[in-house]
Amino acid sequence: MKNRAMMIAVLLMLAAGLSLLAANRPATAADPARENPLERYCTACHGLDRIYEKKFPAVKWWTTIRRMSTYDGFDLDVAQQKEVFAYLKAELAVDGPGGRQKALDKALEK
Ligand code: HEC
Repeated sequence: MKNRAMMIAVLLMLAAGLSLLAANRPATAADPARENPLERYCTACHGLDRIYEKKFPAVKWWTTIRRMSTYDGFDLDVAQQKEVFAYLKAELAVDGPGGRQKALDKALEK
């Protein structure tokens, strides 16, 4: 009887420990706010609208990211710059596969 109570207590502690571990786990890629590197890195000095309003080709996004990275207090390492670039190229660049390419094609039809 005593062993059984001990066993249950141990199991309960294990379960509590595991749920604590799960709660403390850092946010994963499944967290939508973290998936967008612009929200993670690019909102300290200006809003995202400043970014989304631009119709830049990929190469201009790259030079813009590089310029931002020279500003005081913004320590974006090259890996992070590439992460932001991959996102901008895919989602916003006029010559990327995102919606902007369609907008550009449409504009050129006229
Ligand atoms: C340290 C402050 C700071 C951070 C962080 C920052 N920016 Fe900027 N951003 C600026 C300033 C200052 C300007 C206006 C001067 C300029 O265009 O260089 C600007 C302007 C811009 C513009 C308009 C440029 C144009 O040619 O009209 C874009 C696009 C932009 N930022 C994108 C980004 C992106 C993408 C990130 C994240 C990688 C970012 N910014 C992070 C300070 C910052």
